[in-house]
Amino acid sequence: MKNLSVVILAAGKGTRMRSKRPKVLHILGSYSLLEHVVSTAESLNPCEIIIIYGHGGEDVKDQLSHLKVSWVEQKEQLGTGHAVQQAMPYVNDANNVLVLYGDVPLTKPETLQLLLNKLDSDSNVFALMTDVLDDANGYGRIIRDESKRVLRIVEQKDANPKELQSKEINTGILAVSAKGLNKWLNALENNNAQNEYYLTDIIRMAVKDGLTIDTVNPSYHWETLGINDKNQLAQLERVYQLNMAKSLMEKGVCLRDPARLDVRGSVTVGMDVTIDINVVLEDGVVLGDNVNIGANCIIRRSSIGANSVIAPNSMVDGSMIGESCVIGPFARIRPDSVLSSHVKVGNFVEIKKSSIDIESKINHLSYIGDTNMGKNVNIGAGTITCNYDGANKHLTIIHDDVFVGSDSQLVAPVCIGKGATIGAGSTITKNTPENELTLARSRQQSISGWNRPEKKTK
Ligand code: UD1
Ligand code: CA
Repeated sequence: MKNLSVVILAAGKGTRMRSKRPKVLHILGSYSLLEHVVSTAESLNPCEIIIIYGHGGEDVKDQLSHLKVSWVEQKEQLGTGHAVQQAMPYVNDANNVLVLYGDVPLTKPETLQLLLNKLDSDSNVFALMTDVLDDANGYGRIIRDESKRVLRIVEQKDANPKELQSKEINTGILAVSAKGLNKWLNALENNNAQNEYYLTDIIRMAVKDGLTIDTVNPSYHWETLGINDKNQLAQLERVYQLNMAKSLMEKGVCLRDPARLDVRGSVTVGMDVTIDINVVLEDGVVLGDNVNIGANCIIRRSSIGANSVIAPNSMVDGSMIGESCVIGPFARIRPDSVLSSHVKVGNFVEIKKSSIDIESKINHLSYIGDTNMGKNVNIGAGTITCNYDGANKHLTIIHDDVFVGSDSQLVAPVCIGKGATIGAGSTITKNTPENELTLARSRQQSISGWNRPEKKTK
């Protein structure tokens, strides 16, 4: 088996995106279009991946500098043939070459493997990915002879009415020996309707050299759909999302509506996870067994322990939620929070950079930030940790078995001793002793015989 070089064409302007951002940097799911293509290419174990860049190319290179690829500039966009030609000086003549497009993000590796298999079986084969479409408008058409052998490709703009009747189109994806490719590319001319060096013209040359053009069709039309505008971007986003939803359902997840889930990054799931509608899972999410996610939740870069419930309209970001917790509805867990098991966080509660130990409850209307909270703590409604003095953040420590009455403020840095009780409405500015009731509020008094002022009638 020969070594494989993958050449990805990404020099096109992408004018129809109507964006300052280069087309291949637009995001589908959680990755740019080009990253999708590179990751598909990587799954084929090539010896190299070469990206042909042009318009806005420096931006593309900068933003995707983490990719293990070679970058080759196509200074002027003189056509797809010219684009591939730019890569050839860097490709070993003994290799096979697979050509992909940077704006075709959803090709399945299995489909590309079928294409490459064609080359392994016979060195005299040129492998071409074609598709048969009801509406072939805009595509290059495959022209075959009476015995169905591929003869050539004709571009829409160069085709005569009879040729335009062909419903078999060129997807643009092809694989062939580097040696042949080099030879044919060097012979390309641009005397056609668009004055471009068409990659498609090499088919006719290969046929003349006695090669067989062997075709493979994708399993789904969307595998070879390219993105030229925001409509097509949105259409393929839906395809991608439905694929993500299907793969989660195959792993046993119960989705109340697969069309109303958005996955932007990896999701790892246990058994019997249920996800209600309009949920977004972003940047790496781990859901344990029996986790239940309510409607309208956003979960980012977080793990949720087994049997926990994230009730509707909650957001969990950059945090670890233990087992059997109940979060929400309407809760916000901000980054660097660690909740142990059996923790309850209720409505309109915000937790930030805090650890909360087993069986503690913050059920209503509270802000807990920069706090270490022990076990079995009960935080009353409207409690606020005052963690910020305008310049620095300070720590609040709440030991096990503490009870904080409603509408209390804990002014950090402060420590609430084990088993302490804080009376409702207290503003706590000093550490409080263990097991005692601490009150920091004005005393209630009643004045007997007091008369309410009355309005005088004139
Ligand atoms: C090309 C094919 C056509 C096929 C269609 C599939 C040719 C001549 N035609 O047409 O048969 O049906 O794709 O979508 O190959 N690119 C460069 N440098 C260039 C020109 C293009 O890098 O100088 C890149 C583009 O960024 C794009 C890809 O090549 O990713 C295809 O270019 P595009 O202009 O879209 O080709 P089509 O005219 O659509
Ligand atoms: Ca195109």
